[in-house]
Amino acid sequence: MSKYEGKWTTVLVDVVDGIAWVTFNRPEKRNAMNPTLNREMADVLLTLELDRDAKVLVLTGAGTAWTAGMDLKEYFRETDGKDEIYEEAARRQCSLWQWKLLRMYTKPTIAMVNGWCFGGGFSPLVACDLAIASETAIFGLSEINWGIPPGNLVSKALGDCVGHRKSLELIMTGDTFTGAQAAEWGLVNKAVPLEKLREETIALAAKLIDKNPVTLRAAKNGFKMCRELTWDQNEEYLYAKTDQSRQRDKEGGREKGMKQFLDDKTIKPGLQSYKRDAE
Ligand code: COA
Repeated sequence: MSKYEGKWTTVLVDVVDGIAWVTFNRPEKRNAMNPTLNREMADVLLTLELDRDAKVLVLTGAGTAWTAGMDLKEYFRETDGKDEIYEEAARRQCSLWQWKLLRMYTKPTIAMVNGWCFGGGFSPLVACDLAIASETAIFGLSEINWGIPPGNLVSKALGDCVGHRKSLELIMTGDTFTGAQAAEWGLVNKAVPLEKLREETIALAAKLIDKNPVTLRAAKNGFKMCRELTWDQNEEYLYAKTDQSRQRDKEGGREKGMKQFLDDKTIKPGLQSYKRDAE
């Protein structure tokens, strides 16, 4: 039984062999992100950061959907006409986990896209470090189909992954595309048959679990941050990150790596990671 059994109502969490499986759990609503789910996801992410057993986070969905995006009823319909502060609060609630917490998460994150992925779902999709999709998952920027332009960071996130022309095509037509196409265009890293999705995700997570977590955090979050900086700022920032990571790394990865290569000659870092001590 998961130690988090019953803790949240719209999200299931189970930590197994270093992987925190975080599952959107509103299958009857195709995992549309409603206010409860958004509130709970912020709590889930903050909780798992401090869980030493959770080394990699995998975000997936129950049933046929990854997520059908924002809940059109519980947000747009039910917040319409209310005091403007409700809309503002709702937006902040989404951004908090879908973007601010997830994008620079302290642990590696993988979106495991098992099915439908629409609209607002693109924010957490792109915020995850890596993504693997079922070849047959269906994606779409559906906003244009129900009368709004994509909001939040959806368009920016899409542009970052698939580029200018393809983004505009998807935003303007609302055309759906498959997981296989998402992989071809760079929105996800890889597409695999649905029956292989979990196994491939576990294999990818296992690679990440093997790496030094302090270095990995500095590397991935440093990369994301430096996309927003000038070249000069980038150089300063990443050197500062390098120094910070060395100082924080209690296992002394750099020393171990160099020793195993230069002195012991037991590894070739071009081909494999240094050997970490068992925890
Ligand atoms: N917001 C609120 N409810 C949603 C939803 C959403 N984004 N997506 C699905 N649901 C609800 C449906 O209203 C339906 O509820 P009901 O059983 O009370 O009638 C239930 O989930 C099942 O949806 P249904 O459309 O019957 O499922 P489907 O498997 O035939 O189709 C989708 C799946 C994802 C193609 C379809 O539900 C859809 O187009 N959803 C909207 C996607 C979208 O535009 N999202 C953008 C949000 S920014």
